[in-house]
Amino acid sequence: MIYLERLLSIGLTYMVENSLSAELITQDLETRFVGQRVIYYPSLASTMEVARREAQQGAAEGTVILADEQTAGRGRLERAWLSPSGNIALSIILYPSLSYLPSLIMLASLAVVHSIEAATGLKSRIKWPNDVLISDRKVCGILIESDVRVNTVNYTVIGIGINVNLKLADFPEILPIATSLSHELGRGVSRLSVIRCLLVEVERLYLALSTGGSIYQEWRDSLVTLGKRVRARSGETIYEGVAESVAEDGSLLLRGSDGSLTRIVAGDVTLRD
Ligand code: BTN
Repeated sequence: MIYLERLLSIGLTYMVENSLSAELITQDLETRFVGQRVIYYPSLASTMEVARREAQQGAAEGTVILADEQTAGRGRLERAWLSPSGNIALSIILYPSLSYLPSLIMLASLAVVHSIEAATGLKSRIKWPNDVLISDRKVCGILIESDVRVNTVNYTVIGIGINVNLKLADFPEILPIATSLSHELGRGVSRLSVIRCLLVEVERLYLALSTGGSIYQEWRDSLVTLGKRVRARSGETIYEGVAESVAEDGSLLLRGSDGSLTRIVAGDVTLRD
């Protein structure tokens, strides 16, 4: 049954399709394999665990685990990810070669930027390594987990959480740092169109990698981080400096006040300016 949510905006009534199902996503989806199989749950602890189990059992490449809400959504660096109903929480199973792993971080964030723009017209940018921001606030988080043994990738799971219809006033703890598509537009947003655009983009960029294409330059140009003063956390270590550039393997090059250059392979940054 399709549930229609009515939203009032500027005197008009918007009818926003807010129900999700595997069929609504896969129907006529213009991909070869990403999103051709979708497993949908109204409520789930985290799509990452189900995706990992599916991958271990040899699920088809491109299988998507999708949840309307997550009760124990996980973020990077062991943080929790707020995931109430009305947003997008999904994990995509891939079996990439080892050499693609650094590019997957770039691929996932660029696919989100492209799909948000295609579905809503909103422009977003990327905070290193792969947070997607609108007006300097986080609209999407990406968590990538790979099982690598003896230089072989058994599987990779790309987890993507997008704040679509998140009512920020209900979550004061994230109000200063987060935004949602509905908040930016002042109206409800169809998750279905964002998800379908996203799956098409993930596949397009993934296939481009296999034909030798590079997404490094576009990812670098989409970063809000470069040229800014940042505080970077990598493991237990905190670095401060100016984010000077990013290397092709995705690492961040930070210029310290003493002139030193530090390469940060994995971590998180806070913009200081
Ligand atoms: C981050 O910014 O820290 C990453 C957040 C990743 C959230 C997504 S939502 C779908 C998938 N399931 C999870 O539990 N986490 C990822």
